[in-house]
Amino acid sequence: AATKVYNFTISSKTIAPDGYSRDGLVINGQYPGPTITVNTGDTIQVHVTNNLTEPTALHWHGMYQRGTPWQDGTPGVTQCPIPAGGKYTYTFSTAGQSGTYWYHSHYMSQYVDGLVGALIIKDPSATSPLPYDEEIVIPLSDWYHTQSEDLLEHYLSRASKGEEPSPDNALIGGTGSNGCTGYVPTGTSCNANHTTKSYSFTAGKRYKLRLINTSAFANFWFSIDNHTLAVVEADGTDLNPQYVHRIPINVGQRYSVIVQANQKAQKYYMRAQMDTACLDLGEVIAKESLALAPVIYKGGANTFNSSVDWTDQLVDCQDLDYTVLRPYHAQAAPAAAEQITLSWDFHGDPVTNINRAFINNVSWVANFSYPTMMNEYYKMPDLSYDQLVIRPNTSDYVEVVLVNNDLNEHPFHLHGHTFYVLGWGNDTYDDATDRPKFNTKNPLRRDTSTVPGGGWTVFRYKADNTGVWALHCHIEWHVEAGLLVQLVDQSWKIPQLNITNDALALCAASNYSHLHGT
Ligand code: C2O
Repeated sequence: AATKVYNFTISSKTIAPDGYSRDGLVINGQYPGPTITVNTGDTIQVHVTNNLTEPTALHWHGMYQRGTPWQDGTPGVTQCPIPAGGKYTYTFSTAGQSGTYWYHSHYMSQYVDGLVGALIIKDPSATSPLPYDEEIVIPLSDWYHTQSEDLLEHYLSRASKGEEPSPDNALIGGTGSNGCTGYVPTGTSCNANHTTKSYSFTAGKRYKLRLINTSAFANFWFSIDNHTLAVVEADGTDLNPQYVHRIPINVGQRYSVIVQANQKAQKYYMRAQMDTACLDLGEVIAKESLALAPVIYKGGANTFNSSVDWTDQLVDCQDLDYTVLRPYHAQAAPAAAEQITLSWDFHGDPVTNINRAFINNVSWVANFSYPTMMNEYYKMPDLSYDQLVIRPNTSDYVEVVLVNNDLNEHPFHLHGHTFYVLGWGNDTYDDATDRPKFNTKNPLRRDTSTVPGGGWTVFRYKADNTGVWALHCHIEWHVEAGLLVQLVDQSWKIPQLNITNDALALCAASNYSHLHGT
């Protein structure tokens, strides 16, 4: 195994992914950030230079961080953020995992402004569920024309009445069109003729598309006109192929699909259509909730009219029903030694009357100078520090029952783990009737799973990865509203971790004086 070294300089820059110029956050000048590609078992080392005037931190979404939980990049949970002008090096192993992952800032809502990128782990010795010739990484994202700081300030005020900011546009591969058709305030610039990304196919080849939903808010439906998609991976787990035309991909989730370039025209569209059920349609108009990216065939007959609307040609359009997804390498879900029930809703804070999210009646607020990891490491639990920190007593399997009392669906992500999704429903969870229907034989294993509106999801994970792991809704606005809990694996072993001096120094820099006994 090798060590792959990356240098990431984070800065702010005017960017215009859809033609509309705004201040964005970039890595090495790019949005999306550079793609990290390694082989399984390699160590990833990322030297981060923070050229912003505010702190930052990068989270490696889906990485187990076994033995290095302080490198998970989650301010308030695993680390103190990298200060403005500061530097920090993340080093972690990719042992035991492969597939499609991503990274993003986990400091406030920074990732919504552009701090995202793909992280791909290949396993050269693995047999793929289906053969392919080439692969393409395709991030899908909603996009806002206003900086997230302003959106967040409004969202977390009484005035928002809890209504989330609606995206202005949709992007495929970091670009979108129609950016100038909405509201363009005077003084801002918008280039209606900017070029969007296109992808090229060679007739006869098979492509593996690695789809990553890097959105703040939107669940997307992805399709390619006139092409069938074979779904072969979900969040790093290889799957028995499922042949579909459209797949739903929620915030934080990834799917790999294999597409045969078996068509004859020159141009087809890739489509990423936001599921607008949760959005305020007064703001997002239909055109802007759809991102299009042309797929251009090189070679092939090219004799067909390329202006055909292929969506009309698709008969018996088959949507992916993710209940049928089964891992390629079957594994039964082991029995659980402990059970946790987490039940949430949104309501006005009793004191401020500002709408917040409450899990088991607690609304999380990040304490950047006092991350839970350090609290556990120094074994000086601050009893006033009530942040819904759950410490299972077992190193074995824990079952989590997620109960969603909100009417909208929520994509929940657990850090540091891949979990077995045993079941879900869109009604009240009833143990007596729902448990017998659990799929424990070969359930889907992933790290981000949608909890239906007014419904529930039950998953199991092995609590043996010593560390503090965030479990949260990946809708960025909801994290900021407090929809996050922390699960501590083997809390008794945390004081023995070899947390590096650099990581401890970040906390010293953020004035967490009592870590040093003063
Ligand atoms: Cu994609 Cu808490 O993260």
